[in-house]
Amino acid sequence: MAGELVHALLLQAMTKTYYHDPDQIRRACARVKGLPIGDAAEVGVYRGEGAKCIAEALPGVTVHLFDTFCGMPALIQHGDWHKVGDFKDTSVPRVVEALNGYPIVVHQGLFPETAVAVPLRFVHVDCDLYRSTMDAMVWAWNNLVPGGIILCDDYNCASCPNAKRAINEWMVKVGAEGEFENRFARFMKPGGVT
Ligand SMILES: C[S@@+](CC[C@H](N)C(=O)[O-])C[C@H]1O[C@@H](n2cnc3c(N)ncnc32)[C@H](O)[C@@H]1O
Repeated sequence: MAGELVHALLLQAMTKTYYHDPDQIRRACARVKGLPIGDAAEVGVYRGEGAKCIAEALPGVTVHLFDTFCGMPALIQHGDWHKVGDFKDTSVPRVVEALNGYPIVVHQGLFPETAVAVPLRFVHVDCDLYRSTMDAMVWAWNNLVPGGIILCDDYNCASCPNAKRAINEWMVKVGAEGEFENRFARFMKPGGVT
């Protein structure tokens, strides 16, 4: 009971702060803005604040939004800090309104069941859990165009210890090399002009 209360209080405190870093998103988007093709995506959208930064930084680029939009799914495993239902205080209409006027496609449901095959220039992976992060990294890397970037929000984040584990395992699997800064990890798909 006390544990649940502490969890709820910590989550509430976190929800009041940004889950994304606008500057990190802007800088990564600036690097992919000139690519000839590729949509953008965010896996883990919550209320759409990070997604709005992406849409602003990449004018005219379609942004795919993947989330249950009703809270953390039942994919929690040992080492994940979050509980099922965390971040449930959002909805698709709320996010659509927050992104009014931007070219977005909402993919509601459990990722990767909602995943689509589409060329991507930028993916923001911000889904906190081991399973979700692993699935998002695999999908993003497979769909990224040369020179495209994945930015992961959760690499060095106290509430997402398993995201780092997923990314470390994924890096070994695909042989990707990352750039690391504060809590962020960035991966550029080889083959682009830098
Ligand atoms: C930290 S929040 C995202 C914050 C958001 N990027 C922002 O800028 O405010 C994490 C989100 O990931 C979503 N999520 C995690 N795993 C998921 C999965 N497998 N399928 C769909 N949504 C998932 C949760 O529902 C939650 O809304």
